[in-house]
Amino acid sequence: MEDRSLLVSDLDGTLLGDAAATRRFDSWYQDRCSSWILVYASGRSFDSVIESVRESDLPNPAAIIGSVGTEIRWYPSGQAPAAWRDGFDSAWSADRVVRALGGHSELERQPAEFQSEYKVSYFLHDACPDFLARIQSQLVDSGIAADVIYSSGRDLDVVPKGANKGSAAEFVAGACGVSADRVIVCGDTGNDESMFRRGFRGVMPANALDELKALAGERNYLASALFADGVIEGINYWRKVAESK
Ligand code: GLC
Repeated sequence: MEDRSLLVSDLDGTLLGDAAATRRFDSWYQDRCSSWILVYASGRSFDSVIESVRESDLPNPAAIIGSVGTEIRWYPSGQAPAAWRDGFDSAWSADRVVRALGGHSELERQPAEFQSEYKVSYFLHDACPDFLARIQSQLVDSGIAADVIYSSGRDLDVVPKGANKGSAAEFVAGACGVSADRVIVCGDTGNDESMFRRGFRGVMPANALDELKALAGERNYLASALFADGVIEGINYWRKVAESK
């Protein structure tokens, strides 16, 4: 079993958002990188995350979970573990999702650079739960094995059933041999929710949106500090909890 702990963190609004806090996270991490495996989990693609790593003070990760969990790649090799996508239901098809949802004028397709074979993304402002439930059942009725992930009161992602940041984090933990009680997940919006429902230890920075804050509690720590400072605060919190046992 791996001795190191696993830190899986979202970027925008979590490790990114305050450049000085990102720098503080970087120096925090550089002092402890022998004890941690660092993984980024983003709604953005692998290439877009790489760009952020190059252009900011984010430390180099061991892996990147991209496109809301539909993509996992080791870093820096860029290799994708075949077993991840091989597990997606064959009743998934991005083209069929687009056709099935084509009749909803409220759904505005996100630009092409945000679409992939395994993620169909729309803008939908202030969606009500009923509408989301209707879309989900429409996909089921069309025979498409898909999940709908809604975040930031704006982004609607349709992905293969079961593919999300939480299941991807679990896959990476398994691949690295880290047990769930040594995994800390951090995020600030609805597309991070799945990571907070997996029995890991959670950290939300103070700027987390209400859609996620609803999950704050015994296993999910809501920090008083913002962005990357909130991540450092949360990790310290969980370290103290572990030491007190
Ligand atoms: C990122 C992606 C976007 C997605 C959103 C929520 O902003 O670029 O496509 O909808 O995350 O997951």
